[in-house]
Amino acid sequence: MSLTPRPGILDVAPYAGGEAEAPGFAAPIRLASNENPLGASPRAQAAYKALSAELHRYPDGGAEELRRAIAEHHGLDPARIVCGNGSDELISLLIRAYAGPGDEVLYSAHGFLMYPIAARTAGATPVAVPERDLTADLDGLIARAGLRTRVVCLANPNNPTGSCLSGRELERLVAGLPDHVLLLLDAAYAEYVMRNDYEDGAKLVESSSRVVMTRTFSKIHGLAGLRLGWAYASAEVADVLNRMRGPFNVTAPALAAGLAAIEDRDHAARSRDHNARWLQWFRQETSALGLDPRPSDGNFVLLRFPGGTGRDAGTALAWLKGRGILVRGMAPYGLPDCLRVTIGTETETRAVVAALAEFVS
Ligand SMILES: Cc1ncc(COP(=O)(O)O)c(C=O)c1O
Repeated sequence: MSLTPRPGILDVAPYAGGEAEAPGFAAPIRLASNENPLGASPRAQAAYKALSAELHRYPDGGAEELRRAIAEHHGLDPARIVCGNGSDELISLLIRAYAGPGDEVLYSAHGFLMYPIAARTAGATPVAVPERDLTADLDGLIARAGLRTRVVCLANPNNPTGSCLSGRELERLVAGLPDHVLLLLDAAYAEYVMRNDYEDGAKLVESSSRVVMTRTFSKIHGLAGLRLGWAYASAEVADVLNRMRGPFNVTAPALAAGLAAIEDRDHAARSRDHNARWLQWFRQETSALGLDPRPSDGNFVLLRFPGGTGRDAGTALAWLKGRGILVRGMAPYGLPDCLRVTIGTETETRAVVAALAEFVS
C-alpha cells in the first residue's frame, strides 16, 4: 500500500496570499492583503523587540494576560476567549471539530476562501450559497441548512465584497438555523465598521451557544506577520477549541505585541479614521473614472471593471503590477471582472487612483 493522505486532501487548492513582489520594483505598493498601511502600534513594536531576550522561554499556553486584556477591552468573559495563531487557525479548528466526512459546511458564495479550504481539509463538503447583489443571502443560507449541515461561516463585513449585515439580520440568521448548526461569525474587520446598526457577534455568542465570533490582530492592529487571532464562544465550544489547539499555539512575541496593541487605543483610532477617510475618497475617485466601487465596511474596496477590449480587470491587474502596484485579482472568488484594493497610505491610495486613471484613459 502506498502512502496516501485522507481522501479529499489532494483536492485542496492551497490558499494563495496576496502578491508581495513586482519585478523591477524594490518596494512595490502592496495593496493586496488588507494589511494596515500605518503599520503596527509603536508600543506593540517595542513590546515585540523587548521580548528578544526571552526567546528561549515557552509562551504562556493559556494566553492569560492577553485574554484578560481582550475581555476588559470588549466587556467579555475571559474564560470564553481562546487565542489562536491568526484567526485562520481558529476557523480551521472550529470546522475540524464540528464537521467531517459526510457533513456540509455552508458559506456565502463570495465569502472568505479559507472556509471551503478548511472544510475540505476536514473531509467535509463545502457548499457555496448564492448571494444577492454581492451580499450574503440570509434566507438562502437558512433554506440550505439541512440535516448534514454542521457549520455556517459568515464574514461580517465580508472579504472580498465589503458587504455587511446588521445586528438584526444576524439575529434572524441565528434564529433561522437548526439547533445542530454552529454559526461562525468572522468579524476580522469589525473595527472598521462605521454604521451604527452593526453587531460584531459578541452579544449573539452571549445569547446562543451555537454562535462563535472570531477576531484578528492582523487588520486594525497591524500584526498580520505575528499571527494572532481570538475566538469568543460558549464555555462548551471554548473547551473544544482548547482541546484541539496546540499547547503553545500563540508565540510569546505575538502575546506581548498583542497586549501592547490592544492597549494603544490611539493607534487603532488613527487607523480607523485614516481608513474611513481614504476609503471614501478612493470610492469617489474610482467612481468618477467610470469604474464600479462597491460599498465597503472593511479596509478594502471591491472594484468592478466595465470590461470591453483591454479594459477588463485582468488587464488592469497586470497594468498596475507593471507600475509597481499590487492589488488582488478576484477570479479565485468567482469575480473575474473585479479587483480588490486595500486602502493604503495617502501616497499609495493616490498612486493607485492615478494609475487607474491612466489605465481607463
Ligand atoms: C474575513 C477574514 N477572516 C479571517 C482572515 C484571516 O485573518 P488572520 O490573519 O487572523 O488569520 C482574513 C484575512 O484576510 C479575512 O479577510
